[in-house]
Amino acid sequence: MEKILITGGAGFIGSHTVVELTKAGYSPVIVDDFSNSNQSAIRGIESIIKQSVKVYEGDCNDAQFMNDLFVAEQNITGVIHFAAYKAVGESVEKPLQYYQNNVGSLMVLLDVMKKNGVENVVFSSSCTVYGEPDQLPVTEKSPIKPAESPYGNTKQVCEEILEDVIKSDADYKAIALRYFNPIGAHPSSHIGELPLGVPNNLIPFVTQTAAGHREQLTIFGDEYDTPDGTCVRDYIHVVDLAKAHVKALQHFKNQNTPYYDVFNIGTGKGNSVLEVVKTFEKVSEQKLKYKIGDKRTGDVEQVFGDVEKANNELHWKAALTLEDALRDAWNWQKKLK
Ligand code: UD1
Repeated sequence: MEKILITGGAGFIGSHTVVELTKAGYSPVIVDDFSNSNQSAIRGIESIIKQSVKVYEGDCNDAQFMNDLFVAEQNITGVIHFAAYKAVGESVEKPLQYYQNNVGSLMVLLDVMKKNGVENVVFSSSCTVYGEPDQLPVTEKSPIKPAESPYGNTKQVCEEILEDVIKSDADYKAIALRYFNPIGAHPSSHIGELPLGVPNNLIPFVTQTAAGHREQLTIFGDEYDTPDGTCVRDYIHVVDLAKAHVKALQHFKNQNTPYYDVFNIGTGKGNSVLEVVKTFEKVSEQKLKYKIGDKRTGDVEQVFGDVEKANNELHWKAALTLEDALRDAWNWQKKLK
């Protein structure tokens, strides 16, 4: 069994990926500092895969710790690097922490991989690199726009680091997956999103409002140039997204070093905030309290991805619907409360 290191493996996307890797016959090893995740995710993973999972608690920026981990595990064949801070607003207030953590950890990782002869790395990037797109859907060839936040910039810089390092050194194969908006939860309700404090993202805010933890949802603006005036995003079920990582690892097998490429990972379809609200009301069979508020600074009007490249080259395609994702997110929320 191939051993894959999953940094941030206790997080939202990481935990779902650990499950899909196990199902596909890989042996995942988690490293997480639990700064924005919880041990309960490990128990949730283990309930689904019905076996224990190896976990190292520590900081991916700590080169000594990371090197010791690679040495202890011996035959790691690939890394999926999720570990990162992800709150856009917080990144504006604490840019140094974001650069240190998100950019620093990638540099440590590439160095430690090299020292231990590990070639393959999948990196968590984001559609945020496209900013406000000139044309929709965005393809991997669409222009990269100046980042709206230090968080967004860390994703751009990390992609550049990967590209530069791989240009200079033939010992790596790397894929950056540009995720659109990951939502949902595992259909078993054993793992899902666990936001700390008041959620910034739409779906946890919706489910917490429905569960009575929040007074009401504020829709950030309804005067955008979109069919119903609210922003449009490409919402992708986290289980579909997790499966894309398995496909990326399999894709490395057909590549020679040096190799670097980027792929959009979305559904290819845009949905407005109001459509999300209406679909949520349908699957949860209840009315959601919401009001229309001001636009949120830094929000793009609409973005959704062309996913042909992932479809053709990774043989990956999203299979689950917005309804599936919202139903699973709601079932997860009901289990939490
Ligand atoms: C943002 C980031 C993205 C990052 C993701 C993960 C940008 C442009 N996007 O995505 O890179 O990967 O967070 O944290 O930096 N909304 C409301 N009310 C709410 C919350 C959200 O109306 O209470 C709306 C937003 O205006 C947006 C949509 O819901 O149109 C989705 O918002 P959100 O879930 O925060 O994700 P993004 O901003 O798209």
